[in-house]
Amino acid sequence: MNLTVNGNPQEFGGDPNMPLLWYVRDVLGLTGSKFACGTGLCGSCTVHVGGEAVRACITPVSAAEGMEVTTIEGLDAEGNHPVQRAWRAHNVPQCGYCQSGQIMQAAALLSQNPDPSDQEILDGMSGNICRCGTYQRIFAAVKTAAKEV
Ligand code: FES
Ligand code: FES
Repeated sequence: MNLTVNGNPQEFGGDPNMPLLWYVRDVLGLTGSKFACGTGLCGSCTVHVGGEAVRACITPVSAAEGMEVTTIEGLDAEGNHPVQRAWRAHNVPQCGYCQSGQIMQAAALLSQNPDPSDQEILDGMSGNICRCGTYQRIFAAVKTAAKEV
């Protein structure tokens, strides 16, 4: 199967049922996307497939056939996507483990809704768990980023 990851064409001849998270981490070495719950319930593994936020731990690599996949490594070559800049401005991360998923979720939210209401931000980010409890800073950073996208 063929797909594109962070702008690079890829060919994969392995098990099409392999989780997309395994593929990006173990086959391509893109380890910014994190494994946590493994059951689609926490969001730490969030990547974009065709511009949509998906949980890579429960998405088979076959679902990305012919699609453009973006991981945290490919969101912006210099790490300067408006969401990433806002994350730095608000010092969002604590341990950091959930944060690539948070950023990918926020980036997808703002690409689909550049001017979200407070409730739309809360709803859009509600599936991404942070055990360090950085939710207030996440919310503030999404509001900041929304002014720039
Ligand atoms: S590791 Fe994928 S949703 Fe938790
Ligand atoms: S920053 Fe530690 S889990 Fe979110």
